[in-house]
Amino acid sequence: MPLLDLSNVTMRFGGLVAVNDLNLKIEAGQLYGLIGPNGAGKTTVFNVITGVYTPTSGKVLFDTNDIAGERSGLITRRGIARTFQNIRLFGDMSVLENVKVAFHCRQEATVASAVFRTARHTSEEARVDLESRELLKIFGLKTLADEKARNLPYGSQRRLEIARAMATSPRLLLLDEPAAGMNPQESVQLMDLIRWIRDHFGMAILLVEHNMKVGWDFVEWPWKKTSPDFTGTRPMMARSVVDFPAPFAPIKVTISPGRSRSDTPFSASIAP
Ligand SMILES: Nc1ncnc2c1ncn2[C@@H]1O[C@H](COP(=O)(O)OP(=O)(O)OP(=O)(O)O)[C@@H](O)[C@H]1O
Ligand SMILES: [Mg+2]
Repeated sequence: MPLLDLSNVTMRFGGLVAVNDLNLKIEAGQLYGLIGPNGAGKTTVFNVITGVYTPTSGKVLFDTNDIAGERSGLITRRGIARTFQNIRLFGDMSVLENVKVAFHCRQEATVASAVFRTARHTSEEARVDLESRELLKIFGLKTLADEKARNLPYGSQRRLEIARAMATSPRLLLLDEPAAGMNPQESVQLMDLIRWIRDHFGMAILLVEHNMKVGWDFVEWPWKKTSPDFTGTRPMMARSVVDFPAPFAPIKVTISPGRSRSDTPFSASIAP
């Protein structure tokens, strides 16, 4: 049973058909690339999966539930997180706060417990703080925790967006051109990091790339193949990037405190 199953999805904007009869299946713990030229409809696919748009026709099943047109917040709680082609961080908030905000979509403490600062609320806050800092460490952002997000270099902002998406404990992570604007060294390191988080946390990842060469290079050779499930008529391809099962399933993101940064593929050269 696929984790995500799009069948015959069409998205029209007036007379323009942005996505035409798309069929796409993604298995738990797998890493996929969605590759196509500008305007192929890649971001629209993300917007349909995350409830920004209700598809004109077709089904969007996540974990066998039809999520087409559901509210984005509910879809996040179901376990789908994304980053945006145009970075959307809270620029005036600190790097740490940007990640903490995302944790709250899963937080169990109630408003009342927050108001009265109950023990449960306090311990929840401590956990969120710890896990947020752990995510920052993984993404090479630890020393920038108190910096305003807007002051970060571009590549670091992109990594912060992924860290924030990870904070919602996704089972499916959607990355819209995560390497855009990065220099070649940064993009290679980012791709290594993306593979590492898939291996480490075991979620499925769908990565959008408009540059065919970069997308193709990202495909790991031994498993390179055209996805047999993709039958869209737009010039767009889905490639199964890594075609072996996740190391652990079902997937729950848990951040283990105390892991050293050297465990991540991030080299000190760009990690601050
Ligand atoms: N809200 C909208 N209203 C009207 N047209 C739209 C809307 N969103 C997207 N489109 C159109 O749908 C088509 C697909 O756009 P989309 O942004 O999904 O492409 P893309 O593959 O992500 O391209 P890029 O590589 O440039 O990011 C384009 O022609 C775009 O102009
Ligand atoms: Mg796009």
